[in-house]
Amino acid sequence: MQLNEHYRNLEESYLFTRIGRLVAAYGQEHPEAEIIRLGIGDVTRPLVPAVVEALHRAVAEMGDAATFRGYGDEQGYGFLREAIAGYYQGKGVSLDPDEIFVSDGAKSDLGNILDLFGTDNVVAIPNPVYPVYLDTNIMAGRKVVFLEANEENDFLPMPGKMQADIIYLCSPNNPTGAVYTRSQLEQWVAYALDHGSVILFDAAYEAFITDPDLPSSIYQIPGAKSCAIEFCSLSKTAGFTGTRCGYTVVPAELIREGVSLRKWWLRRQTTKFNGVSYIVQRGAEAVFSPTGQEQIQESLKVYRENARILRTALEKQGVACWGGIHSPYIWLKCPDGMDSWQYFDALLHRCQLVGTPGCGFGSCGEGYFRLTAFNTIENTRRAVERLENFYK
Ligand code: MLT
Repeated sequence: MQLNEHYRNLEESYLFTRIGRLVAAYGQEHPEAEIIRLGIGDVTRPLVPAVVEALHRAVAEMGDAATFRGYGDEQGYGFLREAIAGYYQGKGVSLDPDEIFVSDGAKSDLGNILDLFGTDNVVAIPNPVYPVYLDTNIMAGRKVVFLEANEENDFLPMPGKMQADIIYLCSPNNPTGAVYTRSQLEQWVAYALDHGSVILFDAAYEAFITDPDLPSSIYQIPGAKSCAIEFCSLSKTAGFTGTRCGYTVVPAELIREGVSLRKWWLRRQTTKFNGVSYIVQRGAEAVFSPTGQEQIQESLKVYRENARILRTALEKQGVACWGGIHSPYIWLKCPDGMDSWQYFDALLHRCQLVGTPGCGFGSCGEGYFRLTAFNTIENTRRAVERLENFYK
């Protein structure tokens, strides 16, 4: 028997699993500590009333023989795909519901989509970035080239002289909070069209964009439907981190080697995935209703305010920081030449604050740190007081 030897090339544990263990161990040693978590981007606001009501109605339907449903469409119920298409229409993007695939979240699809691509493809991955892109490609043994994101390029790498078949882009970016402009995304789309590459565009944080000039979908860029797959999630937008629902768009125009990637993704999903539960899809549908859209704005407003509070406090202390404007993430430079893990330890032990070490997102994140706005305003204010004491 042979194992997938590529797993040997992975770090021992997934970034957020490692942090979770360290924080749990600290909590056990210091049961009195009031730890404030600004680490993993897990939401704290509950599901909005429109979603809760839709979930209740769907549960009642499932408990009644007259309305009970068994297996659903693996691609997602038509009602939800149409609601998502309507949401895109609001961004000026016209999609056929057949191009939309409902999933249990962006993370799974960002990894699973690789089933469509040969292992000899060269993959371009920003550094630093959400660790799932790199880890899933290491698991498959693909060659990875890194797109360096640094202070000089405002953490927004652009295409260079590389040859890449698959390109991951994340905007608004996790972890740096940087957002690509229209003209920057136009350059990426031009590169992909010229080279026959496919862009895997992670739009999980699109709902945080407030400037209408900044693209919130890659399909707002002409030509993108022929070269990009987009991934999105209701986790951060509508508090679905525990409920689980997202979607992936594979446009009909996306053809490589004469093959429709939409058809292959459908083939893959119908074989390996049985769809998201009816109940959850009804809850997700409610997110896109006018009432749902209005209600989720309340939560987004709280997170934006938290981001503003954190960023203002850091700037007051003279800490170099980025993001936190069209993004729930604030990216900052560690003080006094500390490396990312040293700063993590210092904040945990001296302030009982949890953040995420920048190096966990890639080597270019070394010496940086990420704080999230996903907490209550009260806890964010308490965190800021502790940070002010730290920098005294
Ligand atoms: C993060 O903290 O980077 C995200 O919450 C992780 C995720 O969405 O899987």
